[in-house]
Amino acid sequence: MSRSAHPAGPRHADVLPEGHYAAPAEDLNALDPKVWAHTVGRDADGVVTVGGIAVTQLAEEYGTPAYVLDEADFRDRARAWRTAFGNDADVFYAGKAFLSRAVVRWLHEEGLNLDVCSGGELATALSAGMPAERIAFHGNNKSPEEIERAVRAGVGRIVLDSFQEIVRVAHIAQTLGKRQRVQIRITVGVEAHTHEFIATAHEDQKFGIPLAGGQAAEAVRRALQLDGLEVIGIHSHIGSQIFDMSGFEVAAHRVVGLLKDIRDEHGVELPEIDLGGGLGIAYTSDDDPREPHEIAKALTEIVTRECESARLRTPRISVEPGRAIVGPTAFTLYEVGTVKPLDGLRTYVSVDGGMSDNIRTALYDAEYSVALASRTSDAEPMLVRVVGKHCESGDIVVKDAFLPGDLAPGDLIAVPATGAYCRSMASNYNHVLRPPVVAVRDGEARVIVRRETEEDLLRLDVG
Ligand code: LLP
Repeated sequence: MSRSAHPAGPRHADVLPEGHYAAPAEDLNALDPKVWAHTVGRDADGVVTVGGIAVTQLAEEYGTPAYVLDEADFRDRARAWRTAFGNDADVFYAGKAFLSRAVVRWLHEEGLNLDVCSGGELATALSAGMPAERIAFHGNNKSPEEIERAVRAGVGRIVLDSFQEIVRVAHIAQTLGKRQRVQIRITVGVEAHTHEFIATAHEDQKFGIPLAGGQAAEAVRRALQLDGLEVIGIHSHIGSQIFDMSGFEVAAHRVVGLLKDIRDEHGVELPEIDLGGGLGIAYTSDDDPREPHEIAKALTEIVTRECESARLRTPRISVEPGRAIVGPTAFTLYEVGTVKPLDGLRTYVSVDGGMSDNIRTALYDAEYSVALASRTSDAEPMLVRVVGKHCESGDIVVKDAFLPGDLAPGDLIAVPATGAYCRSMASNYNHVLRPPVVAVRDGEARVIVRRETEEDLLRLDVG
């Protein structure tokens, strides 16, 4: 999924036969601000600090592994998106990247909206006080109960994903005596992964209603006839970890084309378009993400230009960044358990977590960086693979990286850019307990999601 997930080879390494990578030229103690949260640095003793707190202190108080989240950085990034898009657009944070009640409160305070895609995410959002009208409800197979709960709560929009759902939501809304605001999610025939897109390649998937063959137009036709629905716009989400805006350009062109067809056929100008999320972040120093203001400018210009040429009023734009807000704000702190050099190959560094707290490496071949966090070292770099404690050889956290050659059990290492899709996709594989999320700000740390306990596991196991 990450640009670096593709077979470009290991970071800092000239690709030689497996296991014979050239050592990095740069200082292993340096922390590239591109991949670390804003307040991360090292103190006078060389210990990594975040929000003014040393990771050694965090490990002592909260244990390892732990996700450590820089609250100031989260708020900065959320605000940067909000400011970049201004008052004529809406930013919906995609809760699937990472959601907790503290996060919902921060989003609320920073003026963002929230995208949820299950009853559980909806419950979290509502319980932390996000106003329902600022919530968008997504998903390709929302249950009738979830739909009813969302309609009753008064969510600002439900994003419809199929012909059956159009009828289902209309029926539920009507039964409740309501008219539900909806967008219709379409697939525009663009596949956008990393820096490239393959036009027309991506209608073959479970999300959305294809533009091709007039299906999206037919969906709008049907939805406009139903009393229970107020059709407010069209939705398109083209992919993940995208660095290149050209996929959005094609998507905007096609969405606006549909708006024009709708205007011509029904005499209705839909007031909103949502261009989804998917903006890439830096997992390693090789990734070069765009800043929110550049993205906002590009998207606004594309939509305005397309609407002008179609002689349409420019609709209100919304976007749904998840990873781009929370991804860079957290790192995972692990304690090294064993260091196993394999002659002529590499050194395996085992940590106290693994694929249960970060499935992305195993699932997407994602690439991560890693740093020795509890001290600095001038030892020669060694090529390592950071692996977890699970009973599976694919249990890899960082596939290829360099760490100091004197790394030893008891050292703390940190893997940056794990804020998105790590805790939210964590599992209990091997009955390993999911780590806490510790938020740090201005010299204070607090647990926002506590560590799982064996009692938690046993409570579900009713015998
Ligand atoms: N909006 C919609 C409709 C989505 O489906 C998604 C992500 C987003 C927004 C947010 O995308 P983001 O800005 O976070 O890339 N588990 C994968 C990512 C799956 C994304 C699913 N949809 C990963 O770890 O890379």
